[in-house]
Amino acid sequence: MPTKKVIAITGASSGMGKAALQLFAQRGWTVYGGARRVEKIPTGTNIHAVKLDVTDSESNHTFINTILNEQHRIDVLINNAGYGEGGPIEDIDLKNVRKQFETNFFGAAELTKLVLPTMRSQKTGRIVNISSIGGDLYMPLNAYYHASKAALQQWSDSLDLEVQQFGIRSVIVQPGGTQSAWGDIAVQNMRKNLKTDSAYLPLVNTLSNILSSSSNMISATSADLARVFYAAATDRNPKRRYFNSFGDRFVVHVARAHPKVFHAASSALLRHLDRRSHR
Ligand SMILES: NC(=O)c1ccc[n+]([C@@H]2O[C@H](COP(=O)([O-])OP(=O)(O)OC[C@H]3O[C@@H](n4cnc5c(N)ncnc54)[C@H](OP(=O)(O)O)[C@@H]3O)[C@@H](O)[C@H]2O)c1
Repeated sequence: MPTKKVIAITGASSGMGKAALQLFAQRGWTVYGGARRVEKIPTGTNIHAVKLDVTDSESNHTFINTILNEQHRIDVLINNAGYGEGGPIEDIDLKNVRKQFETNFFGAAELTKLVLPTMRSQKTGRIVNISSIGGDLYMPLNAYYHASKAALQQWSDSLDLEVQQFGIRSVIVQPGGTQSAWGDIAVQNMRKNLKTDSAYLPLVNTLSNILSSSSNMISATSADLARVFYAAATDRNPKRRYFNSFGDRFVVHVARAHPKVFHAASSALLRHLDRRSHR
């Protein structure tokens, strides 16, 4: 009987990571899911839940060592754990900025370092990095989220060039707005990171109203994104970038190909929203 494929998924207690854990397990993979709230990781056939905080080096080592000690191989790592540390650049405490990068970037970097020696000796492996359309697009009050995802993308492309020679590939998934806990956490953080009497309160009010009111218009589900993760993990000839919808691919294309147009349009939109909020 062929050996079952082994996958590690971070951020498996909620949203896309949880949906991906269930999809890979249904399709017969041996799945290790990691998250801080280990009790929220679904249980079931093929699923191993491990407590993981990707900002903690010891926890990252334990996660990967558990997999390698039990399975002696690892085929795919999905670096999915992430959140949005929103807030104005002038106000936000750098301690929280560091936490944003520790979670969205350095966690992925350390876990990848830990799996590469095994993938190299297997002569096969795949690293799937969950970025965002916000790795190319940007809006105010989310600067460090965008910066962390842009960093992840450049890093993934460099990594891919380093490891292709060993049969390993590193690819990026760029979700757009997707139903999950992400939006509520990002809006809460935007408010948490405001200073008392902040000059940015009106902007935070405008943007958090838009984010909250548009959240029920989001049609993409975590299950949709799990299927994209699956393609990114299994395509024989993987793409550099994976998108869930044509719209997500299109807006990223516009932002990359026409940066001046994107910046001017964003600025005009903000002025319009500001005028509307003062009516
Ligand atoms: N939803 C969207 O609209 C959207 C759009 C573009 C990109 N994304 C990206 O997609 C990925 C998944 O987000 P989601 O939408 O599924 O959000 P979610 O429902 O909030 O899930 C985030 C997951 O990350 C985990 N996580 C956060 N910090 C962690 C840490 N320090 N250590 C380990 N796990 C941690 C959480 O688990 P614990 O809290 O239990 O640790 C949770 O399982 C993220 O990278 C996000 O930035 C989301």
